[in-house]
Amino acid sequence: MLRPVCPLDAIPRGEAYRWAVDPPVAIFHTEDGEVYAVDDTCTHQDASLADGWLEGAEVECPLHASRFDLRTGQVDAPPAKKPIRTHRAEVIDGVIHVAVS
Ligand code: FES
Repeated sequence: MLRPVCPLDAIPRGEAYRWAVDPPVAIFHTEDGEVYAVDDTCTHQDASLADGWLEGAEVECPLHASRFDLRTGQVDAPPAKKPIRTHRAEVIDGVIHVAVS
């Protein structure tokens, strides 16, 4: 079920928002204007991916630089081995909505 999170313009392009649900979800607004939602906690250790570096549709973990594809959750660079969960994100009337998987 899609739930409203925040206005799209509350997250500038190239930045992320940590949605404090349980478990927390990181919502990214890419430079290209896409919106993606994934689990916020890295699958390697306890780092918040919303604090990571966004590059295109990938995020680099701030702790040990694993990279995750935000479209698929796949790991593109170690040390993480497990993918992150992705969640459906949609912008409806200027508000980001996310359906937690
Ligand atoms: S905690 Fe993310 S790569 Fe180690």
